[in-house]
Amino acid sequence: MNLSGKTALVTGGTSGIGEALVRALLAEGARVLTCGRNEHALARSEAEAIACDLATHDGRASLVEWVAKQTDALDVLVHNAGIQREVRIDPDLDEDAVEQELATNLLAPITLTAALLPLLERGREPMVVQLSSGLAIAPKASAPVYCATKAALSNFSRGLRFQLEPKGIRVVDVVTPLVKTPMTAGRHDGAMEVDDFVSKLLRGLSAGRDELYLGKARLLPWLVRLAPDRARNVLRDS
Ligand SMILES: NC(=O)c1ccc[n+]([C@@H]2O[C@H](COP(=O)([O-])OP(=O)(O)OC[C@H]3O[C@@H](n4cnc5c(N)ncnc54)[C@H](OP(=O)(O)O)[C@@H]3O)[C@@H](O)[C@H]2O)c1
Repeated sequence: MNLSGKTALVTGGTSGIGEALVRALLAEGARVLTCGRNEHALARSEAEAIACDLATHDGRASLVEWVAKQTDALDVLVHNAGIQREVRIDPDLDEDAVEQELATNLLAPITLTAALLPLLERGREPMVVQLSSGLAIAPKASAPVYCATKAALSNFSRGLRFQLEPKGIRVVDVVTPLVKTPMTAGRHDGAMEVDDFVSKLLRGLSAGRDELYLGKARLLPWLVRLAPDRARNVLRDS
């Protein structure tokens, strides 16, 4: 896939996978737009950047308005921004925190895809890329809301693919393994290096596959087929 001269929007470019992906896309000669809430990190980014909170309606609207001012066509839209919280489902549940996790991880990719569709329709070989997770298939006990958002995101991608196929827009679901980033701090044993993950991601996108199982996540479809009960439990305490 030739990224040179293409225009990409990567949400959440201030940290981890998003930050590394922004660097890699710029190195490939793409024009890169990004966003996040951390203004200091955005100021350091080499991409064109805007501060916004994608968990809020106003934050998502300001991103869409800004992107439309920067470009009239989008070739690559990467829904990367995400949060993962430890959540106990009990009477003390913090409902606002749950809403923030649902909005960031699921509502934002849905509504941003909808709002940016006219720009994607004018893109060259346009694609929407979703950062899902192995936890969409094999959930862990400590973060059930996060796992639910990623499972929903993967299935949303399948339905969205049906809708966007006639328009020539690819929808790619990336089943991400454990990657060394601030999100996974303290759990880096056996995790993939972020630059290694990003180079495999770009290679997978070039290969034209729509469901990318990267790193150790490649084992999951096999495990699901051979031992479905074991597959559902394999990341329980991760
Ligand atoms: N690392 C892994 O092992 C792993 C595994 C599976 C899936 N993933 C997925 O990969 C994506 C990137 O994760 P990561 O590990 O790179 O996490 P990270 O280092 O914590 O980075 C998350 C990014 O999302 C942005 N973000 C979070 N909430 C936001 C909001 N409300 N509005 C705007 N931006 C927001 C953050 O920017 P600000 O802080 O500046 O707002 C940051 O740039 C996520 O969707 C995650 O679920 C990661």
